[in-house]
Amino acid sequence: MTMERVGVIGGGLMGSGIAEVCARAGSQVVVHEIDTPAAEAAVARIESSLAKAVERGKLEEAARSELLERITVSTDLDEQSDRQLVIEAATENEELKRKIFTDLDMIVTDEEAILASNTSSIPITRLAAATGRPENVVGLHFFNPVPVMALVELVTTVMTSDIAAGRARAYAETLGKTVILAKDRAGFVVNMLLVPYMLSAIRMLETGVASAEDIDTGMRLGANHPMGPLELTDFVGLDTTKFVADVLFDEFKEPLYASPPLLTRMVEAGLHGRKSGGGFYSYR
Ligand code: 3HC
Repeated sequence: MTMERVGVIGGGLMGSGIAEVCARAGSQVVVHEIDTPAAEAAVARIESSLAKAVERGKLEEAARSELLERITVSTDLDEQSDRQLVIEAATENEELKRKIFTDLDMIVTDEEAILASNTSSIPITRLAAATGRPENVVGLHFFNPVPVMALVELVTTVMTSDIAAGRARAYAETLGKTVILAKDRAGFVVNMLLVPYMLSAIRMLETGVASAEDIDTGMRLGANHPMGPLELTDFVGLDTTKFVADVLFDEFKEPLYASPPLLTRMVEAGLHGRKSGGGFYSYR
């Protein structure tokens, strides 16, 4: 299954990665951004990732410019009108995402088009209900860094049609991803398991069982994880981790999802991890 015309809403870390992998698979991609500086930042992000891919021997130099030609960044949502698949990767804000889905429902002319969200925390059902075509709405949850991580979670709701789910799965597979199917429950599969693990590591640090370095070394060398849990929390972002933990806690009311005070205080202090220059480690 290939989609010739794909839209991506939001050119941040996830959106730019999604645009890159879709263009790699041969799709023409229109990325929507809110203003010109954000659009320029999205292009820079994609260029930098492609440069890294060339440097690592994952992409031919000649293919890079062809691939870039397949990606357009626009601030006009109407440019999504002829898309066969739109993947929303905007900020994790339910009101904003619902509005995007309502607008896309009006703008995208192909009734068979799939409207997908990369959300890790907002129920897909609520986004589907904001459209007049809930049968064609799914979750397609990618992992950071998108060009490197091999997994996509396909999330279906009680309203999703089998045809739409099948088309979304087939396209994610053409991106070279392995697809797992999850119900529309907070955390899907991976975050439901990963977030309590990260929270446990923070509790372990907070109660003085071991140092951050030793907790991370323990899991890197003792369990062969590419990153330890605290490094990973810095990588994902402490704010994002707490946000997802709070969503899981709201849904299940289980202490295992409760944000440890250390995480809450660090987020309040602006220690959001790599992107802010500091979290459990310093990146300055
Ligand atoms: N395009 C294609 N391939 C690329 C690339 C790019 N732009 N950049 C790097 N790569 C390739 C490299 O060539 C290398 O491949 P190889 O193993 O075949 O040689 C591989 O990716 C690793 O790249 P690097 O050597 O640059 O980096 P590291 O070895 O230091 O690994 C990492 C970095 C991939 C981030 C690794 O540390 C890792 O896997 N960490 C865990 C990441 C993780 O768990 N992410 C999920 C977070 S949770 C999430 O996203 C869900 C959300 O909802 C919260």
